[in-house]
Amino acid sequence: MKNIVILISGGGSNMAAIARAAVQQQWEQTLHARIAAVISNRPNAGGLKIAADMGLTTQVVDHTEFADRADPRTAFDDVLRQTIDSYEPTLVVLAGFMRILTPGFVVHFEGRLLNIHPSLLPAFPGLHTHQRALDAGCRFAGATVHQVTTELDHGPILAQAVVPVLADDTADSLAARVLTQEHLIYPQAIEAFLNSHV
Ligand code: GAR
Repeated sequence: MKNIVILISGGGSNMAAIARAAVQQQWEQTLHARIAAVISNRPNAGGLKIAADMGLTTQVVDHTEFADRADPRTAFDDVLRQTIDSYEPTLVVLAGFMRILTPGFVVHFEGRLLNIHPSLLPAFPGLHTHQRALDAGCRFAGATVHQVTTELDHGPILAQAVVPVLADDTADSLAARVLTQEHLIYPQAIEAFLNSHV
């Protein structure tokens, strides 16, 4: 069985979309894949309850507990890596995971680490993507599923979805339109990745 580990920080709607696709498309039978765990760096992430309600295993690695270490980012990433490795993952999926990962972590999982980013990469890496797209006068926005490399929000693109920017859009209304597309392309990209790469 191919184990998928999903990392979240917040609402977990992409995680839920992936979990629904796994059930509806019977990934255990068709892909020999299952979601082995959903891991959050925030104990109060809304997605944890959604995952538990869907019968998924959940775990928390709270990044704030590493704040007093000499190198908090590396200390957090080491424990996160060990936690993920305990599920022997074929694929690690970042789904609204809002921590920048250390190069050591990324290299450890490189080739089996995917991310979704709410812009049409390579435009607008980083934060506040929707406001930046509005400020730039973009007529179109979207989302990108990509393999994670050590350069933030770069790496081979696996899928993109495009939405129009409307005249009265705010960052919130644009984000909501993009998010509906994220929920379509992320499960599809994971399915295609598992079919072709592993
Ligand atoms: C999504 O829009 C995702 O693309 C974005 O956070 C949101 C999470 O929503 N990710 C990033 O900005 C990563 N840099 P969700 O928790 O409901 O899936």
